[in-house]
Amino acid sequence: MIDIHCHVLPGVDDGSRSVEMSLEMLHELRKQGVDKVVATPHFYPTSNSPERYFADRKRAYERLMEAVDDDCPQIALGAEVMYFEGISRYEGLSDFKTEGTDLLLLEMPFIPWTSRAIDEVIRLGSSYRTKLVMAHIERYYQYVDKKVWRLFAENGILMQSNAEALFDRKLRRKTLRALKDGTVSFIATDSHNMSGRAPNMADALREISRALGSGTVENLVARTQHYYQFAGENN
Ligand SMILES: [Fe+2]
Repeated sequence: MIDIHCHVLPGVDDGSRSVEMSLEMLHELRKQGVDKVVATPHFYPTSNSPERYFADRKRAYERLMEAVDDDCPQIALGAEVMYFEGISRYEGLSDFKTEGTDLLLLEMPFIPWTSRAIDEVIRLGSSYRTKLVMAHIERYYQYVDKKVWRLFAENGILMQSNAEALFDRKLRRKTLRALKDGTVSFIATDSHNMSGRAPNMADALREISRALGSGTVENLVARTQHYYQFAGENN
């Protein structure tokens, strides 16, 4: 399985705080059947510059790569980009895609979305150069009319839910339904540490299998592998 959303790089955002913590997270992910992780540190355009972001990400990646061992999954570089007005016209956006792919992990603000923002996301999602992956959609259920998800899906936008949504009393049913009807294409851990937001891929897949059958998990794993096939890979 590939974990497509994970804050495993040390010291760059509110995720892992040290190389040691990153290693613990990676070992745990591997134990849970994850063989590849996309490291997706937050990019907040209002408080960071792309130059600083990429320099920090590179430094953190290199520090981690010096420490990884055979019990760690493979790591690919990605980003979790916070939406901003004008994002669809921003020429540097390609640099934030998951390495070797056209996939861009997009986070939305945690307030009701304007129709202008929704239109812009759709415009970006229909661009032939970018395949949008909307991060943890369950966090927006309270702000967004469910028609928006259909609109997104019709425009080729892919959606991701966090593993933890399957263990949330209020979100569990909706998340399972979204997986079943195809609104949600990916499950990721979005893990930040080894305590409150620790890797939980295995529990999530077990839960999906129990509720929707092992075929759903097999499809989920295959779909993730299909989309997150990095350049130069042929599996
Ligand atoms: Fe995240």
